[in-house]
Amino acid sequence: MLEGRKILIGISGSIAAYKIATLTRLFVKAGAQVKVVMTPAAHDFVTPVTLATLSKNPVNTAFVKNNAGEWTNHVELGLWADVFLIAPASANTIAKMAHGICDNLLLATYLSARCPVMFAPAMDLDMLAHTATQKNIAILQGFGNNLIEPNSGELASGLEGKGRMAEPEEIFQCINSFFNKQQLLKGKTVLITAGPTYEHIDPVRFIGNHSSGKMGFAIADAMAAHGAKVILIAGPSSQQAKNTHITRINVTSAAEMFEECLKVYSKTEIAILCAAVADYAPVQVSTSKIKKAGNLLNIELHQTKDILKELGKLKKKKQLLIGFALETDNEEANALKKMKEKNLDFIVLNSLNDKGAGFGFDTNQISILHHNGTKKSFGLKPKKDVAQDIVEQIIQLLHV
Ligand code: PMT
Repeated sequence: MLEGRKILIGISGSIAAYKIATLTRLFVKAGAQVKVVMTPAAHDFVTPVTLATLSKNPVNTAFVKNNAGEWTNHVELGLWADVFLIAPASANTIAKMAHGICDNLLLATYLSARCPVMFAPAMDLDMLAHTATQKNIAILQGFGNNLIEPNSGELASGLEGKGRMAEPEEIFQCINSFFNKQQLLKGKTVLITAGPTYEHIDPVRFIGNHSSGKMGFAIADAMAAHGAKVILIAGPSSQQAKNTHITRINVTSAAEMFEECLKVYSKTEIAILCAAVADYAPVQVSTSKIKKAGNLLNIELHQTKDILKELGKLKKKKQLLIGFALETDNEEANALKKMKEKNLDFIVLNSLNDKGAGFGFDTNQISILHHNGTKKSFGLKPKKDVAQDIVEQIIQLLHV
């Protein structure tokens, strides 16, 4: 699985740096191409000569590579890699990555890299447990970077606890399964809708809802991480798509979202409609700001197209169509009704009665109701993990 893969290893200053020699050898033996970039502090723990010999490539250590002032191109390194593994990731490097500090070649490469990033922390137990480090790790995970959990055991300080970098064999397995995962949806094109829609009343007002786009963007990231080509049609949202396999199309209204979905639906194998689409929009949109007059203002509304229902009518045998149901009462019955009416393979139910679920939160709590009658319920978890649960259901359906 690693044959021909381009692995860029970033080494920062930690005693665990010596283990990267073994890891580099494992990657090269498995047929991967390996390049190494080191922070100045990493030189105290392992030499560039060792890593250049094992990786069969010159090691990149500074912005300027020779006396002639030749420039080391961090952008090129970042674009070259299929994956950027930062191991060991010291507390200092993690903090700088989390805050966009760019005072060495490794950090400049990190900011330039478009490929997935994995980081394997290595530090003393108290440094790892410190709120600042934990917050920085969470920030990196929020950027979509993948944490390779440190182990517990004897540390360089002589203390015992969590902070030992994962062993080279464990990191090798993580990278290997990362590439395996990338194959599962390779060749599939997926349509995802996310965020709210805004229905204009006049130039300054609209009818909208509280959707942040977090759930839909998390699904887009998870699908892309499994190798799918994602077309993400998003209503107004400040979320950022993190994977280069995602093409984002911005829309504002339900009508625009419907139009964009129709353009691409026939080219997709999977569609997941997560957007909170307005069910009604003003019949008339005033071209000038509506002035205050009288106690009552009536705005006449018409029903918008139900995008999911329309796609359900067009659905071909080989296409998978997945919808969401956001409910406040009779949750399961309402979700089942929607699944049937809209011709879905499964529906993801989330209820506003569950604390931490639904709009705006970083977490969600879902049940997946399948059209064959089966039901799977999950606990409250980060939207990133919820997205992974949904992707796993899709992979299961594709492989039965
Ligand atoms: O964006 P976040 O802040 O992370 O919040 C996530 C979420 C709560 C918005 C998400 O998890 C969710 O529940 N999305 C669906 C919200 C919704 O509009 O549910 P609904 O039960 O009203 O709609 C049922 C389904 O029909 C949905 O798949 C919806 O996208 C679709 N629909 C609805 C109306 C319409 N005109 N067109 C549609 O396609």
